[in-house]
Amino acid sequence: TDLYAVMGNPIAHSKSPQIHTAFAEQTEQSLLYSAMLVPTDGFDEAVSQFFRRGGKGLNVTVPFKQDAWRYADEHSTRAQRAQAVNTLIRQDDGQVLADNTDGVGLLRDLTDNHGVELRHKRILILGAGGAVRGVLQPLLEQQPAEVVIANRTVAKAQALAHDFDDLGRVSGCGFEALSGLFDVVINGTSASLVGELPPLPAGLVDGHSVCYDMMYSAETTVFNLWAQQQGAVITLDGLGMLVEQAAEAFALWRGVRPATRDVLEALRAALK
Ligand code: ATR
Repeated sequence: TDLYAVMGNPIAHSKSPQIHTAFAEQTEQSLLYSAMLVPTDGFDEAVSQFFRRGGKGLNVTVPFKQDAWRYADEHSTRAQRAQAVNTLIRQDDGQVLADNTDGVGLLRDLTDNHGVELRHKRILILGAGGAVRGVLQPLLEQQPAEVVIANRTVAKAQALAHDFDDLGRVSGCGFEALSGLFDVVINGTSASLVGELPPLPAGLVDGHSVCYDMMYSAETTVFNLWAQQQGAVITLDGLGMLVEQAAEAFALWRGVRPATRDVLEALRAALK
């Protein structure tokens, strides 16, 4: 039986063991996937020990995504761009390869699960932290008309935009500077974790806009409530992204892509 795990702090509420165990059953793969609580200063040691004991692959979550990027010997191009990774793969030669499947997960949920077209669209992303860094390359590869990154700390949004501006039209600003309608608005701030909402001007969304919160919860998130009040009809939360990034990691590790719909439905039902 091959060993996999997710490392984070905190980790108790992680849904990854449940998701990957369901994927393994579905694809008839023999593996064991566990959640590991790692001390904030003990990431490298925990990873080294896990791989020494024969572990095949890891998922990495808050606060270790940058540590994981630093730890790895090799990086996919999207991981190299993001400088933060959620997936480590121990290869046969012992080298550890890093990938970031968050962006692909977001894209698959938007485009495959919900039929949202991004090409030539005007996209607004709220936040400029690790979560946003991880999704910019896959988003820009869809050739949107424009991506605007708005953040509380304006300099961070501008610096992030600069890091990706060779891939497409992307700019950074503060919330108050936002204007005009957007086709797609993605919340990548951690504000809604604590029930807060960035100070957004009115008029950014209307009935045709798709709003996506990378966070998820049993109740409608504060960001999606705001979006609905602004007239948005389609408001999605990040549970689909969670399942899709897991499917992408599973495919990298096992060479087989699991179907996600039933797993997502079961998770959604269990949230209520
Ligand atoms: P993550 O890995 O989840 O992205 P992060 O790197 O700490 O976490 O980034 C958190 C993001 O949420 C940042 O963009 C942060 O804004 P700042 O860069 O100005 O700190 C944003 N954020 C957190 N709390 C917020 C709040 N109450 N209002 C608006 N933005 C908030």
